[in-house]
Amino acid sequence: MQAWVIGNWKQNPATSHDVDLLLNDLLTTIDTKEQADTEPSNSRCQLMVAPSCIHLAAVSAHLAGSSILSAAQDVSAYSASVGAYTGDCSAQQIADAGATWTILGHSERRQYHNESHDTLLQKMIHALTQGLGVVFCIGETQAQYDAKQTLEVIDAQLLVVKDLLAQQPELIVSLSEHLIIAYEPVWAIGTGKVPTVSEVSQTHQHIKQTVTGFAESLKVMSVLYGGSVNADNADSFAADSMIDGALVGGASLKVESFLAIANAFSQAKG
Ligand code: 13P
Repeated sequence: MQAWVIGNWKQNPATSHDVDLLLNDLLTTIDTKEQADTEPSNSRCQLMVAPSCIHLAAVSAHLAGSSILSAAQDVSAYSASVGAYTGDCSAQQIADAGATWTILGHSERRQYHNESHDTLLQKMIHALTQGLGVVFCIGETQAQYDAKQTLEVIDAQLLVVKDLLAQQPELIVSLSEHLIIAYEPVWAIGTGKVPTVSEVSQTHQHIKQTVTGFAESLKVMSVLYGGSVNADNADSFAADSMIDGALVGGASLKVESFLAIANAFSQAKG
């Protein structure tokens, strides 16, 4: 199965100039590597970057013709197309900007924007019906982890997928190609702390079993790990058969570490 390594740039970089520098560096390094390796660097690992909304159209245009996909970090819950929703960006506008995916339900959005089950269900419906793929983030807080509630929390968060299928059963056929789950323990994000590979593996197994229970076709859905993934620990996550890729924050802002992570997954899944 092809692996995924996705860079969530969050509210970075500060300027369009810095975005261009990062992308130029990324594309040039990949190009040089491909010429040396004779094999496309993404043949076993699909790369994607999710810039801030303000940079999305420029990033998508810059990446056009390359093997790297672009994604938004969120879509409007209120309308899939247009309307009086100040500050929002719709799924249609995001697709028009050239992105093919969106992240949804990141813990920072759940925390700072109070995103609820109903909000996320609406966002997911809007994204999928506008043809965007969805990287759906789930994960427990430190307190929930300490209280051994990880699976319980994840089960509740995955109900969005169950309800999606109940409301839009026609999506079942293609959902495994348009939905990726990213398991990101909140306590591992930006902290340098990571769960053990065995913990992640067991949680991913549980996620895969749960979504397969919603629809048999979701058996092949990719489940990524996110939270302090870096060039040093990527190998160990990549070696586990339950971990289909990584959602990377901080380390995706440096080409060297982002491509080292991609290389770890590319090698392990080859
Ligand atoms: P870090 O890789 O910086 O821990 O962030 C992970 C993340 O939140 C990706 O969505």
